[in-house]
Amino acid sequence: MKPIRVGLLGLGVVGGGTYAILERNREEISRRAGREIHVAMAAVRDVDLERAREKTAGRVALTTDPQQVVNSPDVDIVAELMGGIHPAKELVLQAIARGKHVVTANKALLALHGNEIFKAAHERGVMVAFEAAVAGGIPIIKTLREGLTANRIEWIAGIINGTSNYILTSMRDRGVSFSEALKEAQSLGYAEADPTFDIEGIDAAHKLTIMAAIAFGIPMQFERAYTEGISTLTAEDIRYAEEFGYRIKLLGITRRTARGIELRVHPTLIPERRLIANVDGVMNAVLVKGDAVGTTLHYGAGAGAEPTGSSVVADLVDITRMATADPGNRVPHLAFQPDQMHDDVVLPVAEIETSYYLRMRAFDRPGVLADVTRILADLGISIEAMLQREPAAGEERVDVIMLTHQTVERQIDQAIAKIEALDSISGPVTRIRLEPLGPV
Ligand code: NDP
Ligand code: HSE
Repeated sequence: MKPIRVGLLGLGVVGGGTYAILERNREEISRRAGREIHVAMAAVRDVDLERAREKTAGRVALTTDPQQVVNSPDVDIVAELMGGIHPAKELVLQAIARGKHVVTANKALLALHGNEIFKAAHERGVMVAFEAAVAGGIPIIKTLREGLTANRIEWIAGIINGTSNYILTSMRDRGVSFSEALKEAQSLGYAEADPTFDIEGIDAAHKLTIMAAIAFGIPMQFERAYTEGISTLTAEDIRYAEEFGYRIKLLGITRRTARGIELRVHPTLIPERRLIANVDGVMNAVLVKGDAVGTTLHYGAGAGAEPTGSSVVADLVDITRMATADPGNRVPHLAFQPDQMHDDVVLPVAEIETSYYLRMRAFDRPGVLADVTRILADLGISIEAMLQREPAAGEERVDVIMLTHQTVERQIDQAIAKIEALDSISGPVTRIRLEPLGPV
């Protein structure tokens, strides 16, 4: 059988990893796919031409014009591994219009424009595969779309950004500063072109948006995701959390509730005995709760050249196997048949339900704690644990930390506003959400 011909848009970290795997494992991949998968062409920028020539040992036709890859009659599958929205979106839509299958690692593109892209692909009868877009090397898309297809998914919670997990782990275990840890993550090829996507939770929200669509059969709704990153986390909160027996991780959480769907990314306290609390460095982990299977945990490298390349190649093999199948008999892009998607409500963050870590600076005088606990009690918020530090020498104020039981976020917003208005409280109250995430 003739080889299937791939055109790469981008030969950077992921493109390079993909190419290296296809070269090294060429024979085994062909035995699995039933045909050879051959990189026919790659588009790179001017400045990259020489490096790209070395990477591919002159075996791949190189161009600085990505249109040439998309329009080439010698390309059957376009792998968009360049990132960003423009011109990636136009190139993907153009490839689809030309009847080419697409593989992409671009979660930003799918979270923002996936509805349009999948519609175009469905109408043209081509596949758009995106395993590499979520959790790097973990086959979580295939798991959600196929392996867990029997289940009504109840919730997903995951560490889905390698860079921020690498930063948090490096700060905690090696005492590295935030900016130093970020630099390391960038030099290892983990970070996005704009690293604020990583540290402000935006990249995780892109990935969560994609998983929620597949899990619940809803359209991509990135604009409704609540997003909070790790840049405001302090070393003292990390230390206090540990005194209570918790670790702080940046989690993406999506949950089906009777009132709508929660879709949120934020730093989260997790009991340290949970496996996911011990997922460190660039590793990612995704917990999925299905009604039939129970809670499952999926773990692996969340970023990097070959882990991500592993997912890209898996998609190339899938497409190679399925290319001749009737489009109506393929696995739907978003797990549910396109006419069976529901536009369920995504809840505003004020409506989510979770537990909270609250830290406040209080003047060390009688009645202060009583005032705070009264405010919480009046709003129906019960306290699970409390810690008050001795004041340092010459210091009148003490740190008070409280863990609450589960409540609606709106109630906590009100409580925080009232606590901050007390004369006996100095400065803002720090709030970090807490999830028990049992039983794994
Ligand atoms: P890189 O910056 O390493 O690679 C992107 C490549 O595309 C570069 O070679 C870049 O050239 C090239 N490129 C960008 N724009 C153009 C253009 N207009 N014309 C031709 N070439 C272009 O990024 P990554 O490989 O890290 O990321 C690629 C995609 O994969 C992104 O969507 C990212 O979010 C996603 N991803 C990345 C992961 C990772 O671990 N790095 C993991 C999972 C997904 P130049 O270098 O000159 O800018
Ligand atoms: N910047 C991303 C991360 C790449 O650090 O997780 C993988 O999607």
